[in-house]
Amino acid sequence: MTSILITGGAGFIGSNFAHFVARAHPDWRLVVLDKLTYAGRRENLQDLEGRHPGFEFVQGDIADAAVVAKVMPGCHFVVNFAAETHVDRSLYQAGDFIQTDVYGAFVLLEEARRTKELKRFVQISTDEVYGSVETGSSVETDPLMPRNPYSASKAGGDRLAYSYFATYGVPVIVTRASNNYGPYQYPEKVIPLFVTHAIDDIPLPLYGDGMNVRDWLHVDDHCRGVDLLLEKGVPGETYNIGGGNEVPNIELTKRVLKLLGKPESLIRPVTDRPGHDRRYSLSCGKLRSLGWAPRVPFEEGLKATVDWYREHESWWRPIKEQSPAFKEHYQRNYKA
Ligand code: NAD
Ligand code: TYD
Repeated sequence: MTSILITGGAGFIGSNFAHFVARAHPDWRLVVLDKLTYAGRRENLQDLEGRHPGFEFVQGDIADAAVVAKVMPGCHFVVNFAAETHVDRSLYQAGDFIQTDVYGAFVLLEEARRTKELKRFVQISTDEVYGSVETGSSVETDPLMPRNPYSASKAGGDRLAYSYFATYGVPVIVTRASNNYGPYQYPEKVIPLFVTHAIDDIPLPLYGDGMNVRDWLHVDDHCRGVDLLLEKGVPGETYNIGGGNEVPNIELTKRVLKLLGKPESLIRPVTDRPGHDRRYSLSCGKLRSLGWAPRVPFEEGLKATVDWYREHESWWRPIKEQSPAFKEHYQRNYKA
């Protein structure tokens, strides 16, 4: 039986990917390893727990070699989503990012060297490793110029993974996706933060001049891309995965408000994020040549996402209103 290990599978993209794998490969054994940090929620996987044969959840740290040595042997695929992921948090607690995004990746890669059955080790990196892209679009061979502790840690994990291919022949594939959106995204990230704030008529803290550009990728399109690479990705190669929806933050904010029927007077310009990357942009011809293309039009995906948060208050309200991790970050970051 084919076995897959999904690390960070209780987070936003990892939980969407676990559901995707369960649907696309119902006969696979599917193990999720997640530390359940503030960003990981076991309830994100409740549709699979006890309901999907072959599903197993293990709470543990990817930086803990003993746990990793228990869960990885026998696996054919490993997809490493586990990471500290919020740029704003990396500005005041970079150590956690280095520990998980670099050292944690190292622990997984060491075990991967010993895992004879392994066909692919997918290291989930990010478009942010290229740094700010003022003009044009990044190709996979471009130099990495990360500019904040999050993206620098991700660049460390990205190249460390490649080194295990080049040095030890571990069948590593690196993916660099653009900004994801969709259900189950922790409400500190801009889309769920702004949607849930707008629902409650709380002002939306837009950084700087609002003209920073992100390329929005629906999480389902991301999952399809990663799944395709399990089959067709070439070990040692890196693949960009972008949505092709480059939108300035101010426009994104206005669209969210319009979908919710809320006034633009809710927009509150706030002090810019230090080192705020101006724009990310990906060239995705390499993945497209394997037959992938994004399918979710941004207007449709954004509307469905706004509707999801509207319909799932029981998911996000306890986080925003009761979680100390959310509140402490909010007060610290926005001086609220
Ligand atoms: P997330 O913050 O929602 O989830 C991260 C998950 O990893 C959580 O469940 C958390 O508990 C778990 N985790 C953290 N540290 C761990 C550790 N030491 N051991 C085990 N589990 C741990 O993040 P996300 O947005 O789903 O991102 C997933 C991956 O995709 C990350 O590697 C991120 O860098 C990458 N990525 C994200 C985006 C995006 O827009 N969200 C874009 C490109 C790449
Ligand atoms: P974010 O969701 O944090 O993702 P990333 O920084 O990884 O791209 O932010 C997306 C964009 O939204 C980014 O340009 C910063 C901006 N932003 C705000 O303007 N206000 C906010 O409160 C947040 C969280 C982000």
